[in-house]
This record gives sequence, structure tokens and C-alpha cells, in this order.
Amino acid sequence: MIWSCFCLLLCAHRDIQAAVRMLSAACLLLGFAPFLVHGVPPIWTQPEQVHLSYAGVPGSMVVTWTTFNKTESTVEYGLLGGRMFKLIAKGSSALFVDSGKEKRKMFIHRVTLIGLKPAATHVYHCGSDEGWSDVFSFTALNDSSSFSPRFALYGDLGNENPQSLSRLQKDTQMGMYDVILHIGDFAYDMHEDNARIGDEFMRQIQSIAAYVPYMTCPGNHESAYNFSNYRSRFSMPGQTESLWYSWDLGSAHIISFSTEVYFYLEFGLELIFKQYEWLKKDLEEANRPENRAVRPWIITMGHRPMYCSDDDQDDCTKFHSFVRLGRNDTKPPAPGLEDLFYRYGVDLELWAHEHTYERLWPVYGDKVYNGSADQPYVNPKAPVHIITGSAGCRERTDRFQPNPKAWSAFRSTDYGYSRMHIINASHIYLEQVSDDQVSRY
Ligand SMILES: *[C@@H]1O[C@H](CO)[C@@H](O)[C@H](O)[C@H]1NC(C)=O
Ligand SMILES: *[C@@H]1O[C@H](CO)[C@@H](O)[C@H](O)[C@H]1NC(C)=O
Ligand SMILES: *[C@@H]1O[C@H](CO)[C@@H](O)[C@H](O)[C@H]1NC(C)=O
Ligand SMILES: *[C@@H]1O[C@H](CO)[C@@H](O)[C@H](O)[C@H]1NC(C)=O
Ligand SMILES: *[C@@H]1O[C@H](CO)[C@@H](O)[C@H](O)[C@H]1NC(C)=O
Ligand SMILES: *[C@@H]1O[C@H](CO)[C@@H](O)[C@H](O)[C@H]1NC(C)=O
Ligand SMILES: [Fe+2]
Repeated sequence: MIWSCFCLLLCAHRDIQAAVRMLSAACLLLGFAPFLVHGVPPIWTQPEQVHLSYAGVPGSMVVTWTTFNKTESTVEYGLLGGRMFKLIAKGSSALFVDSGKEKRKMFIHRVTLIGLKPAATHVYHCGSDEGWSDVFSFTALNDSSSFSPRFALYGDLGNENPQSLSRLQKDTQMGMYDVILHIGDFAYDMHEDNARIGDEFMRQIQSIAAYVPYMTCPGNHESAYNFSNYRSRFSMPGQTESLWYSWDLGSAHIISFSTEVYFYLEFGLELIFKQYEWLKKDLEEANRPENRAVRPWIITMGHRPMYCSDDDQDDCTKFHSFVRLGRNDTKPPAPGLEDLFYRYGVDLELWAHEHTYERLWPVYGDKVYNGSADQPYVNPKAPVHIITGSAGCRERTDRFQPNPKAWSAFRSTDYGYSRMHIINASHIYLEQVSDDQVSRY
């Protein structure tokens, strides 16, 4: 529409015949303009929306991207400082058909790189001989259990009002993080405008997600068409379409899962039980003494918290939180997650959904279990919860209720995100970045 306006203006002060000629010439030239206006690139074989994820085995990385016509799926890469694109890896693409009116089609390409040199920086591009991406780089994860990984983590980052994004871009490109955790709620919403919002969001996060593994879990904003945009666009470890999985890094075992199975029963009540059984098995394994000796930390991430002191009516504000205590209105009743996580000694639970930041004292059964009066977080007797869902989205931030319960340790309604450093087998450091405060590095 902008293009046709421009064209008409240009022609306005010519004589009428010339104007007609120019107009048709211009329209011929701009024959692809309607596609541009809709935000779809005219070169259908050009890779875009490049992002990384860790495949869960030492020395691996998955490169995922999109094209609008089918092409080969190739990553050319090599060590920084070595011969450019010395190595070649091939993968495959999957056709994704959005369920919106237009039934838009795209190809999601996945290539898994293996045998990467731990802790070494690699340079890569992806695509095919019909089009290559920009050149990006990443550092392969150090696979030592004494490695001290640094994370950025947040949830609820949208296409519109992504307040924390510029700071995250700079942090990431400066090499401050080894991994980013996005704890659900992307784009607002990926399926909107026939999934063009999803495309736009994936383009937007390329500036961070093409440089470090971008690890995810689903949130309520992904629910459209049974989470199809989420399941199709991300490439997390395991065979569950990125819904639940676990992986190891440094001295931590990290579990990602879907709280949404408790809320969208129309997509399958059985998913609650499937996930629960998987979680139980995974925790049992991670908690075996010989495994715990190597990776003492067990960290979970899921979108909707068990506890929060916001003033909305969300699940976490209720004593009978579905995520925490399960549901008794289903047949059979569905078990909640608090007992499970407590029983297997989960150390840290990361959440989002509330557009605020809240840190809790160690908590179980709505009661505080401080390690000691002086040092509540030293050998805490229950899991510690962090809620970090204020990265920025069109829904703005939320508000707190004035009188939180005893488990609430610190609250902020500023936009921002969290940083986590798993220092060693006995220390984890967490800090919250406010994006409403003056820039400071
Ligand atoms: C390429 O993609 C465009 C947009 O999806 C589609 O209209 C066109 O038919 C495709 N061409 C081929 C050869 O697949
Ligand atoms: C991985 O991290 C450990 C612990 O910091 C370090 O000793 C080791 O040198 C690192 N490995 C590489 C390849 O840099
Ligand atoms: C929704 O997707 C999940 C994961 O693929 C699948 O197991 C489930 O059967 C789907 N539900 C429906 C109603 O299609
Ligand atoms: C069933 O769950 C509801 C909240 O979802 C709660 O109010 C009620 O007490 C529960 N009933 C039983 C028997 O646990
Ligand atoms: C837990 O520790 C914090 C910090 O020392 C303290 O403010 C809080 O009252 C403690 N809670 C309980 C129940 O002991
Ligand atoms: C773990 O890190 C903490 C904090 O930096 C440090 O005080 C402690 O000595 C470290 N422990 C070991 C075994 O290195
Ligand atoms: Fe949410």
C-alpha cells in the first residue's frame, strides 16, 4: 500500500499519457510489492530466522532456519581463525503449514553439528546453493562438569514492546552468556497474522539466538492449533517436539517441561500423565547418587509458576494451583508437581508467565524452609523459586498484591531479565537486571 501511494505521487505532475506509461512500468517493476507489504521476502530460497539449540550430547549444536521454498539443508562451518567453511553438515527440512486462513507454508531446516571442539569458537553459515545466511559464530559448550556456565533467562518476550531485547543483544554479542533460556510465551503470538508474527519474532531473536543455544519451553501464548508454531519452529533435545526434555551442563541437570498440559485438556489429558511419568523417570535418574555426585544441581524450567504474589487471578495466586497440586476435576485426577520436585531434591525452579520478577525463600507446601535463619539459601530444605516474566511484551507488566505470603523474598515490577551463573558444585549466583534503570555494564 505504501508502494502504490509512492508511485501515484511520482506520476502526479506529468501529463496523463506519460503518467499511465510510468504507472504501468512502475507497477511491473514493483510486481512483488504486495508480497513485501505482507512481510514475506521475495527470495523464497533465502534462509532466515536462524537460531541455535543444544542437541544434548557433548560437542553438538543444532542449527534451525526457515525458507519459503524447499531447498537443501546445509551448514558450512569451521573453527574461528581456521579455513572458512572447512566442514559441511547436512540435515533435512520439514514442511510447516500454518493452520490460519491462508495456510501459509514454510520449510523448517534442521542440521545437527556433532564432534565440535569443546569451548572453541566456530564460524558458520547455513542454507544451500540457492541462498546462504549471514555468517554467525558460536562457542561450542564446554562438556566438563566443572565448567561454570552463564545464562540469561526470561519469559514473556514479545514482538511488540520487547523492552529487554536490545540489552540482551548487546550482552549476548559481548559473550556474556553460554546459553539463553526462554521460559515460554513468545512473540504474542506466533500464530497471529497467519504466522507472520512468528516469522517476525524469529527474525528478531536471530540477533541473539544465532550466537548461543536458545533453549525453550512452551507457554500459554503458544497454545494455538495445539502449539504447532512452537513445536515446528524449535529444535530441543529428545523426541517430544520440544515439549519436555532434559540436558546437562557443567554441574547442573536442567529439565524443561510444559505447564500447559494442565490447562489445555482439549489437546490431550494423557499429556499430563505422559509428562509426569517422564519427569519422574528423569528425576530418578538424575538423583541417583553417582549422577548427583557429578551434577549436584537439578534445575527445572516451566512457564506457569506454582507460587506468585501478583494481583491477577492466575493459577499461581491460588492455594490450589494446578501446577503445584494437580487437578481433581479430571478422570483420573492429575498429579501436581510440587511433591515430585520436592521428593527428588530439585534445587531451583525457574518460571515466568507473571510479567514481574519475584524471588522466593525455599518453599514447600506453602511454608518456608530456610537453610538457617542467617543463611536461608545455604543448604535450603526445599526448592528455591524464581519467577522472571518481565522481558517485555504488548501486555506490559503486572502488579503485585500488597500483602505477600511469608515465602516472598523480593519483588520487582520493572522490565528485565535474570542472569544465572552456575559457579561450581556448591554455588549458584543469580541476579536480576532491571531494564527500567540506567544502563550500566
Ligand atoms: C515458492 O514459495 C512461494 C511462497 O510460498 C509459492 O507461492 C511458490 O509456489 C513456491 N514455488 C515453488 C517452486 O515451490
Ligand atoms: C572447560 O572448563 C573447565 C573448568 O573451567 C576447564 O578446566 C577446561 O579447561 C575447559 N575446557 C576447555 C576445552 O577450555
Ligand atoms: C497435540 O500435540 C501433541 C504433541 O504432538 C499430541 O501428542 C496430541 O495428540 C495432540 N492433540 C491433539 C488433540 O491433536
Ligand atoms: C479439588 O480441587 C479444588 C481446587 O481445584 C479444591 O478446592 C478442592 O478442595 C479439591 N478437593 C479435594 C477433595 O481435594
Ligand atoms: C527466611 O529467611 C529470611 C532471611 O533471613 C527471613 O526474612 C525470613 O523471615 C525467614 N523465614 C522463615 C519462615 O524463617
Ligand atoms: C565454589 O565457588 C564459591 C564461590 O565462588 C567459592 O567460594 C568456593 O570456594 C568454590 N568451591 C570450590 C570447591 O571451588
Ligand atoms: Fe504466559
